[in-house]
Amino acid sequence: MNARHANPDPCILVIFGASGDLTHRKLIPALYELSRGNGGRARLPERLAILGVSRTPMSDDQFRDKLRGSAKAHAAGFDEASWSAFARCIHYHAGDAASPESYPALADRLARLGAEHRLAMPTGGANLLFYLSVSPNLYVPIIGSLGESGLIAEGKRWCSIDPSATPWQRIIVEKPFGTDLGSAQSLNMALGRVFEEDAIYRIDHYLGKELVQNILVMRFANSIFEPIWNRSSIDHVQVTAAETLGVGSRAANFYDTAGAMRDMVQSHLLEVLALVAIEPPSVFDADASHREKIKLFNSARSIEPASAHESAVFGRYARGKPDEPAYVEEAGVDPARRTETYCAMRVEFDNWRWAGVPFYLRSGKRLAKKLTEVVVQFRRPPVNLFREVDGVGEMGANRLIINIAPTEGLELHVLGKVPGAGLRIDAANLNLDYIDRFGGEKVEAYGPLILDAMRGDRSLYKHRDQIEGTWRICQPLLESATLRERIEDYATGSWGPRGAEALLARDGRAWHNPA
Ligand SMILES: NC(=O)c1ccc[n+]([C@@H]2O[C@H](COP(=O)([O-])OP(=O)(O)OC[C@H]3O[C@@H](n4cnc5c(N)ncnc54)[C@H](OP(=O)(O)O)[C@@H]3O)[C@@H](O)[C@H]2O)c1
Repeated sequence: MNARHANPDPCILVIFGASGDLTHRKLIPALYELSRGNGGRARLPERLAILGVSRTPMSDDQFRDKLRGSAKAHAAGFDEASWSAFARCIHYHAGDAASPESYPALADRLARLGAEHRLAMPTGGANLLFYLSVSPNLYVPIIGSLGESGLIAEGKRWCSIDPSATPWQRIIVEKPFGTDLGSAQSLNMALGRVFEEDAIYRIDHYLGKELVQNILVMRFANSIFEPIWNRSSIDHVQVTAAETLGVGSRAANFYDTAGAMRDMVQSHLLEVLALVAIEPPSVFDADASHREKIKLFNSARSIEPASAHESAVFGRYARGKPDEPAYVEEAGVDPARRTETYCAMRVEFDNWRWAGVPFYLRSGKRLAKKLTEVVVQFRRPPVNLFREVDGVGEMGANRLIINIAPTEGLELHVLGKVPGAGLRIDAANLNLDYIDRFGGEKVEAYGPLILDAMRGDRSLYKHRDQIEGTWRICQPLLESATLRERIEDYATGSWGPRGAEALLARDGRAWHNPA
């Protein structure tokens, strides 16, 4: 059976970094939501244990108490009865996950939990899903310690007589996945020494968002889009992720060494772009869609570091209202690093479908509006039959907007005749709001993604070559001294630096900046 349709396997989910922010704000609330049935047909396995691991000493009950507060604050809906039922599967183990000496005790605890929750498989212990929710500098030590622990036998599973009776071990790796191409390659090698590629789940919570997944459904479950989804009909594509908030306290321990390019463009926006631009996979499974994404990224026209400033713009927010410091005034920021809080770039793909069609990506903080969207801008009709009609020449060509957040839907901009005597033409929108149309509650993206890992479906996770492909596209920009020297300040509440407008204006185009 295709992994996508399988039930999630019974397993122990081992979260390294159990006392941290991600576990409290996202992972546990998302799993609790699923346990309450918020995910529709997506349900947790009937037999499941969650083991939180971090160094802070805590009992199971103390850990559950803390998580209860987090679930109450962050889950969509909370009630004591469903929490108590869910919390029974949660346990805690104090230990230094980066040290191999901690693993005999961890292995012992896992064996006991397997027995307690009836999770042991016929030919061994329980299925184990490890989640690296720790600082990235701990990824390699933890992966190495897992390798030495004897807990990982996944490589022998595929060739065992009955793989379904043999326990699996999988690992979910959080972002950031490397800080450049070289470090991503090293991390891939460290993972590859311990886990088979199909046991590695490089997570991108963006790919868990409903509307991101819906891009493929829109393109390939309908027959009207594909014939026009190419260079003949499409002028260009824009992918925007804009935030209104500043960096705040994240500057010191993360953002100032990362910046918008690494934080958003490499890790999320290129992945969203891939869904818009890939060829139809031959089947709807992880391997086929990974292959198409890798092919797409490999066809990106290379950018030379020496001319990268012609394909990209970096900016950082200036001082705003009295309580809004400029980026360089935020606590923990080293102004000499010239970290960008805004990045815009132009990418082209040298393949038959997209030759000559630019893809523009941008992401920034303290911008005019919080939104994530894809804009597919179509070409004008070859002949303007209505050129005599006032204003038609200035009206835009058709445009499809895929709203990913905060609204989830599609908008198709078309031109229509205004009712009444005479010929007056105006722009109109055909709107589809997914929540209005299909109902259902919004579900935190992490929950369904973790379920996918439990059922062995990597479609929404990233393949090794996919990650390296996106780093290869971004690397010249990271290496460009000119781009960083020319970083521009932009006003808070604006749509970013002037250079970003100029990047498109040079091509005779403009950003779609919703009011
Ligand atoms: N927070 C988010 O919204 C978010 C979003 C996307 C990606 N991420 C990624 O997720 C990861 C975790 O982020 P976070 O914000 O949750 O970080 P965090 O709040 O700093 O939590 C880190 C956790 O790691 C534990 N830890 C540190 N050293 C350890 C060791 N040697 N052995 C075992 N546990 C150890 C800490 O607990 P002790 O001190 O008790 O050991 C703490 O529980 C990072 O890679 C981050 O980039 C986070």
